[in-house]
Amino acid sequence: MRKLITLLLITVLIVSCVNNSEKETFINDLLSQMTLDEKIGQMNQYNGFWDATGPMPEGEYQKARYRDLKNGLVGSMLNVTGVDNVRALQKIAVEETRLGIPLIFAFDVIHGYETISPIPLAESASWDLEAIEKSARVAAIEASAAGLNWTFAPMVDISRDARWGRVMEGAGEDPFLGSLIAKARVKGFQGDDLSAFNTIAACAKHFASYGFAEAGRDYNTADTNEYTLFNTILPPFKAAVDAGVSTFMNSFNTVDEIPATGSTFLQRDILKGEWGFNGFVVSDWGSIGEMIPHGYARDGAHAAEIAANAGSDMDMESSLYVRKLNELVTSGKVDISIVDDAVSRILGVKYDLGLFDDPYKYCNKEREKEIIGSKENQEAVLDIARKSIVLLKNENQLLPLKKNNQTIAVIGQLANDKNSSIGNWRGRGIANSAISVLEGLKSYEGNKLIYKKGVDVYYGDTNFFTRLDINYSDRSGFNQARLAAKSSDVVIMVLGEEGFQTGEGRSRTNLLLPGLQQELLEEVYKVNKNVVLVLVNGRPLNISWADENIPAIVEAWQLGSQAGNAIAQVLYGDYNPSGKLTMSFPRNVGQVPIYYNYKNTGRPSKSQKTVTASAYSDVENSPLYPFGYGLSYTSFDYSDLKISSDSMNVNQSIIVSVTVANSGKYKGKEVVQLYTRDLYGSLTRPLKELKGFKMVELEPGESKTVNFTIDNSLLKYYTVNKKWESESGDFNVYIGGDSNVEIFKKFKLID
Ligand code: NOJ
Repeated sequence: MRKLITLLLITVLIVSCVNNSEKETFINDLLSQMTLDEKIGQMNQYNGFWDATGPMPEGEYQKARYRDLKNGLVGSMLNVTGVDNVRALQKIAVEETRLGIPLIFAFDVIHGYETISPIPLAESASWDLEAIEKSARVAAIEASAAGLNWTFAPMVDISRDARWGRVMEGAGEDPFLGSLIAKARVKGFQGDDLSAFNTIAACAKHFASYGFAEAGRDYNTADTNEYTLFNTILPPFKAAVDAGVSTFMNSFNTVDEIPATGSTFLQRDILKGEWGFNGFVVSDWGSIGEMIPHGYARDGAHAAEIAANAGSDMDMESSLYVRKLNELVTSGKVDISIVDDAVSRILGVKYDLGLFDDPYKYCNKEREKEIIGSKENQEAVLDIARKSIVLLKNENQLLPLKKNNQTIAVIGQLANDKNSSIGNWRGRGIANSAISVLEGLKSYEGNKLIYKKGVDVYYGDTNFFTRLDINYSDRSGFNQARLAAKSSDVVIMVLGEEGFQTGEGRSRTNLLLPGLQQELLEEVYKVNKNVVLVLVNGRPLNISWADENIPAIVEAWQLGSQAGNAIAQVLYGDYNPSGKLTMSFPRNVGQVPIYYNYKNTGRPSKSQKTVTASAYSDVENSPLYPFGYGLSYTSFDYSDLKISSDSMNVNQSIIVSVTVANSGKYKGKEVVQLYTRDLYGSLTRPLKELKGFKMVELEPGESKTVNFTIDNSLLKYYTVNKKWESESGDFNVYIGGDSNVEIFKKFKLID
């Protein structure tokens, strides 16, 4: 048997070497035929510049781009979607350019192409890696059926600041969970075989520190030290490389005072050097040119020189490579080997996708018609939508709702909104195509529903570019809402953010419910205390008042195409919620940035009463809801925390176990979480760090023992020696249902 396995391994190795050398030979051969301009063309990416199946583009600017395409000066296009459009442009590249090198077509398929999954922050709250992978798989299947072969996802930026609008696109605040999710998403998009017709290249973005924008203001400076960079920000990027991600995107912000786009340290030393990444790096939109306003580049030529030398292989939309690189190479400012390396990487991804064998492999009209929006895809996104819901509060078991003979008032503009749940970065998600909460509730016929809008949150149509027109003055619907609430058994209030209130450029300084929604909530509560607050939003909000007063709160995020069905199934108990938060919810915006894996300081405090401690004088330090928090309709008890040994060395491991019992009335799932604390180190250490989790499903009365293995790899971090290593000393280990868990065992790592 052993011999057979060795033989198999050798065969696999030989086959992959032959494939690799075939690939290398192909690329080197192609490279040797290319002129300098053709090489630079591969490094140029343009936005879709005209209706590809229509007449010639108008205007000098568009015409120039069209000429570039015909002259082989474009390597990739973004935002061109649909089989006809893609085919038309690919035909020009393949049939009209000298070497016929196919284009690679990119699009922001962030949480679905047309069938929309929950926003990534919501999905991360499922802690269900299989479901997250499946969601990316569905997105890839639809996108590839629409002619695409490259998505600008996953966004793996860790963020601790809910003011930043792009937290909706990420997996929250934790690097351990974030790394596993990064891997799952890359696998989902790329599958096992990138050359298959239904898989697409993924792109880990934004490299790096973009999620640490100061004050949560998008594009702002990020001032992170080297240790935060290595211990917190980089792990999900490294995980994406390990998962075989094909491409990276750099970021708009500075890192160590240098724009990431111009950072040799990030792109050459770490990514392509230390990590051995052999895909290519695309700039973010115009970010090469943006090094001029950053105050880092003198002019366009200088910006192109810096970016190319630093390892940005493809220029998204600043046209600086295509205009300036030739002269920079000729004058020796950029070595030809830099260009050759970038082009080889880009051709390498095209090769892996199989575009040289069949440039039209994603252009099948039949498949496009059959796959996009299919029933099967809708079912898949419904499943992940239910799993993403987090129950934040449920006093007196107000939920699940009774199915018959109730009068239920449903209040809030967002309850009847078929658009917001599709969220931002919606691919080609169709406006107003989500199942609304009201529609979802109507599919249960035993109760009487009374819908009242109560208040407009915003006015007018919204899209990616609009700044929202929020209602701060019109309370004319309050009275009807109060009357409906008064005559009902239960009130469901659906409040939160409009779908485009989070996402790129959507930073907020105020995390309260927008507009007059808070006021409406308080007014309704005065006449009926049986309020269920359903939140539809894209970031943690300040809901401190609701937490104090409203008996039941459901975090339903922006859940995508099937939002209303998922929410109704949870409210009626046909699905028992099991989601857990992946970002801490602050008590107020003043606590932000707030995260569970913080440092103790020299003056730790749990109370704001001591003046000389690290505390606020007006609010506790702790968040309203911590990382890892989420309830179920049933309850789980943890007992009997055990550790197999109180010491280990770097070659040993320890088993930690706990008994989890379902002490409630419903069958339910619980995410059992493992945290460690390294009590002292060569650098100050976080109070807790997530190191593992397991999902258990238990019948009422059932209990299970859950085991975790702690080995040396879990104890490593980027130390003062600038190395990933563990340090001998004392550790605590915790197992519980959220990051507030207090019961622990101790162990020592010995030399
Ligand atoms: C800018 C965004 O930062 C990036 O995430 C996105 O992929 C590009 N625009 C292309 O749309």
